[in-house]
Amino acid sequence: MGKNLVKSAWYTTDAAFDWLYPERIQLLSKRHWTPVDVAKKAARFLATEPGKKVLDIGSGVGKFALIGAHYFPDVLFYGVEQRRELHHYAQAAKEYTKTNNAGFIHGNFTQVDLAEYDHFYFYNAFFENLDSNGRMDHQMEYSTGLYNYYSRYLFKELDAKPSGTRLATFHSLEDEIPSSYQIVDVSTDLLLKTWIKK
Ligand SMILES: C[S@@+](CC[C@H](N)C(=O)[O-])C[C@H]1O[C@@H](n2cnc3c(N)ncnc32)[C@H](O)[C@@H]1O
Repeated sequence: MGKNLVKSAWYTTDAAFDWLYPERIQLLSKRHWTPVDVAKKAARFLATEPGKKVLDIGSGVGKFALIGAHYFPDVLFYGVEQRRELHHYAQAAKEYTKTNNAGFIHGNFTQVDLAEYDHFYFYNAFFENLDSNGRMDHQMEYSTGLYNYYSRYLFKELDAKPSGTRLATFHSLEDEIPSSYQIVDVSTDLLLKTWIKK
């Protein structure tokens, strides 16, 4: 009993979950990682059937994917992250929590074949290109051009997905969402939105 109790305790509050990471990463949590409650709600929407593959575009230290994988063990949660260090912490947290149904890819999302995934989660990953306050470091090149390029790229990829594809967005400016996606639900603070492709 003890082990399961301890394991599920990680997923109850943000403070408990963020303890999986070093202090520097914990300090970024409020601004950059999905809160536990939001992750649970978004994952519930995306975990439609056993065996489905959900991709977090810009997965950071893996918080959304690991929480989704814990609550929906029959669904596969993946994340792609451009920052090597964050990908490393996602991988380490996956191993530490012994999560078998999550996977992390290091790279730019434009290098990943989005056709291989069924549903998507997106926490405003490209915003760091627009707002200097939204940046977690000075390691990347930032520009409005890059924001536009990534948003248009994702827009086209999402538009090419089959009808029934689900998308959950958190804090999105909605530039990446094609009109073929119909809104299903909006949280009371307007930050979490769920969509289904017509
Ligand atoms: C706001 S954080 C969200 C992290 C994670 N999805 C979560 O909810 O906890 C956005 C992440 O997207 C990553 N990112 C931004 N642009 C990206 C790109 N073009 N390809 C891959 N990752 C990207 C950033 O490095 C950052 O870690």
